[in-house]
Amino acid sequence: MKKKRPIVIANWKMNPGTLQAARKLFDGIKKRVTKIQGVDVVIAPPAVFLPDIRTRYRGSKIALGVQNIGSQSGGAYTGEVSGEMVRSAGATYAIIGHSERRAMGETNDLVSQKTRLAIQAGLTPIVCVGERERSGEGAYLEIIQGQINAIAKGLSPKEAHELIIAYEPVWAIGKKAEDAMRPHELYETVLFIRKTLMAHVGKDTAFMIPIVYGGSVEAGNIHALSKEGNVNGFLVGHASLNPDEFLRIVEAVELLV
Ligand code: PGA
Repeated sequence: MKKKRPIVIANWKMNPGTLQAARKLFDGIKKRVTKIQGVDVVIAPPAVFLPDIRTRYRGSKIALGVQNIGSQSGGAYTGEVSGEMVRSAGATYAIIGHSERRAMGETNDLVSQKTRLAIQAGLTPIVCVGERERSGEGAYLEIIQGQINAIAKGLSPKEAHELIIAYEPVWAIGKKAEDAMRPHELYETVLFIRKTLMAHVGKDTAFMIPIVYGGSVEAGNIHALSKEGNVNGFLVGHASLNPDEFLRIVEAVELLV
């Protein structure tokens, strides 16, 4: 089986405020990132900007994603957008179960359902897990285990191969580089996630599933996190809104290839 390339995913969240600003941001990233080799780059803008951004870029170096999909494949669900819809508008990846969505009420069951819907729609799901806090007694491991169990339970080997896990400890999101997780803690947590996956999908598949880290990834901590963190890539929030900083992150990941 061919090993997957490292991946860097830009999660723009509910930014920027207008289509014009989204075009400018995308063009800035495109200009810098298309010289990168050996790293998969995914931009996940707000879904409404997706078709426009797609028409600005026909190359293959940048893939597009969405930050969520609806919980059904279609029908009378006012305000929802299905995986199939975003796939047909140019997305090939979908972030699922981000902690900011879990905070709005998404449960492990719903995240599992959306993961399957994404795969059925032909999207690669980037499924987020992570504890809200780290207590001394290791209760956070149970939280992560429960989240992984819900996602991986009953996935066929073919479905499991589509999966990307994004480990994002909630306490480390949206801060500064120095508040991100320490590389050695990340290393241990990634091993724990692989062990948990193994119980569902077997060893070979568990080692094929990319695990990326998210939570205050910036140019200032990317070298240590990518060298020692044992991850296959990064999910980048606020630093992906700055094309120069985002490029520095992608370049640091490229050095590891
Ligand atoms: P951050 O966000 O890089 O701003 O911490 C990451 C995320 O929430 O996906």
